[in-house]
Amino acid sequence: MEAVFRLLIAEDEEATARLLKTFLEKAGYQTTSVSNGGAALEAITGPTPPDLVLLDLMMPVMTGMEVLERVKSQGQVDPVVILLTGMDDGQTRVQALSMGADDYVTKPFHPKELLARVKTHLRLKRLRDDQQLRNQQLEELNARIQRGFHQALRTMSEVIETFEDDLGGHCRRVAELARELSTNMGLEAEVVNQIDYAARLMDLGLIGVPREIAKKHEKAMTGGEWQLYRHHPELGAEIVRNVEGLDEAARFIRHHHERYGGGGFPDDLAGEKIPVGSRVIAVATKFDHLMEEARKAGDEHPEQVLFNLLKERRTNLDPKIVEVLRRKVLPARDVPIHERRLSLPELQEGMRLSRDVKTVDGRLLLATGVLLTGPYIAKLINHDRILPIVHDIFVHAPQ
Ligand SMILES: [Fe+2]
Repeated sequence: MEAVFRLLIAEDEEATARLLKTFLEKAGYQTTSVSNGGAALEAITGPTPPDLVLLDLMMPVMTGMEVLERVKSQGQVDPVVILLTGMDDGQTRVQALSMGADDYVTKPFHPKELLARVKTHLRLKRLRDDQQLRNQQLEELNARIQRGFHQALRTMSEVIETFEDDLGGHCRRVAELARELSTNMGLEAEVVNQIDYAARLMDLGLIGVPREIAKKHEKAMTGGEWQLYRHHPELGAEIVRNVEGLDEAARFIRHHHERYGGGGFPDDLAGEKIPVGSRVIAVATKFDHLMEEARKAGDEHPEQVLFNLLKERRTNLDPKIVEVLRRKVLPARDVPIHERRLSLPELQEGMRLSRDVKTVDGRLLLATGVLLTGPYIAKLINHDRILPIVHDIFVHAPQ
C-alpha cells in the first residue's frame, strides 16, 4: 500500500485552517495544524517532518517567509512548501519563489484548485525522492564494486608474495616509484592508477614458471627454461585481463619486458610503440634492482645507481622517463644512505624500512621500502605477540 502523505497546515485563521483540514483529509491526506510560525518551524524540523507544508505568510511569532528562510538555510529537510497569503502582490510572489517556496496561492482560494496543486507537487516530490534513493543505491553499489576490485588486487598481490617473498616487496616499491614517475610526466589519473596496478601485478605470470627457473638470472637459463620464463608477461596479462577495469593494466603487464631499443619480449616492440605504462614500469624496475644491488653491496649511493641507470638509456629504457626520474623524482625523494637499528617499541610512523621484517619462521611481514604507518606498526606488534619477530628492525635514517 502506498504511504499516506503527511501535510502540515500552518495557518492562524481558524476558519481557513479548518477548511483546509477538512478537504485535505477527505482527499486522503494526513494533516497536522499549527497556528503560528514558531510551531510550524518546530513541526517541520522535528522527528517526523511533513511531506508538504501549506504555509501562511502572515502569522504570529514568525512570518511564513521567516520560517521558509530558516528551513532552507538549515537544509536538513526538504518538504514541498506552498505559501498562502491574502496579498496578491508580484514582489512577494517573486521573493517567496526565489527563497525556495514551491508554489504560491492567494486567499481566498478554490479548494479544488489548491488540491490539484498539492497533488501535482506531491507527485513530483515522490519522483524526486525515488530518484534520490536510486542515486544513493547506485553509489552504494559502486562503492561495493570498488571494494571488491581492491580486494581482488590485494589477493593477486598476495599470490605473488607467496610465490617469492622479495618479489612482493619489489613490485610494491616499483609501483610506488612508477606512480611518482607517471604523475610527474603529467599522465591522466586513471592511467597512473593502471600503471600502479600493472606494476603490482606484473610478475603474476611467474606462477606458471617453476620457482627454481624464475630465480635464475636470464643469462643462466637453458633454452627450454628461457622459453618458459619469457611466457610470463603474456600469462600475467591474460589473468589480469579477466578482471573488469584492468584492461589497460593487462596491456602494460604484457609489455613490461620490452626494450626501448628493441629486442625485448614477448612482441619485440621498440620506442613509443611500447605502451607508456610498460616504459614507466621498466625504468622503475631497473632503478629498484640497481638500488637493491647497491644496498646488498653496502653501497647505497644514489648517484652511482643513477649513473648505472643512465647507461641503459636508449638500449633498454625510455630516455625521457629516465630524465623525469633524474630531474623530478629523485630530487624530491629523500633517498637515505644510513640505517638505524630499532626495536619494535621504538618504531614511529613515517619511518621507511631499509630491510625486510620477517617472523621467526622466515615469513615476510613487511618488505624493504615500506613506509611505516600506524596500522603497519600495529600489525607488527600484533604479529610479535603471536609469533615473535626475533631480529631488530632496520629503517632508513634521514641525514
Ligand atoms: Fe617480469
